[in-house]
Amino acid sequence: MKLLKLAIFASGTGSNFQAIFHAIRNYKLNAQIQVVISNNPDAGALAFARQHNLPAQHLCRTQFDSGEKFDAAVLECLVAHEVNFIALAGYMKKIRPKIIQAFRHRILNIHPALLPAFGGKSLYGHFVHEAVLAHGCKVSGVTVHLVDEEYDCGPIVLQSAVPVLENDTPASLAARVLKVEHQSFYRALQYFAEERVEIVGRQVKIRLPAY
Ligand code: GRF
Repeated sequence: MKLLKLAIFASGTGSNFQAIFHAIRNYKLNAQIQVVISNNPDAGALAFARQHNLPAQHLCRTQFDSGEKFDAAVLECLVAHEVNFIALAGYMKKIRPKIIQAFRHRILNIHPALLPAFGGKSLYGHFVHEAVLAHGCKVSGVTVHLVDEEYDCGPIVLQSAVPVLENDTPASLAARVLKVEHQSFYRALQYFAEERVEIVGRQVKIRLPAY
């Protein structure tokens, strides 16, 4: 078993971050949160981190003269906090190539639909659920995937289906999906903590637990 030393990247409320935090507290996830990073100084995720005495840092591209300086600051922060794995918990910015290269196959994102449908640059937040309903889908869901250089495109680690109901609104569907997100992210992270993950091209194989 490996201890995941996590950096959480989050832009908003951070309910997925909170679910990870509670999974760690309840011994469901063998990890510790080293630092929380947000592009948004008012993110609920930063406030929650500070309330719980976790290192919290506001870092965004506009604070720096160049992308290179931003990359260097992010990497410096990750190294200083001895991070070995990154969880994107509602992070609305694209992860820059330098960070992806430094943490290849060690960055997970959660998306509130069944990728590769309803993903990509403009499909985030309520737009995802609006698009699912507009298409008349009977099923939506949650995808936890590795992060590569394209939006919502890296190899899939875990998916869970969520029914779409006939009277759903984007908000009601989002709420049903979010509940499943909170059960999904820590489970996918725990696969990595248990060193059960084998990545072969786009295929992510999860070995059976060793007991
Ligand atoms: C979640 O729906 C997640 O799938 C998406 O952004 C949302 C973040 O919600 N990437 P929260 O900030 O974790 O509550």
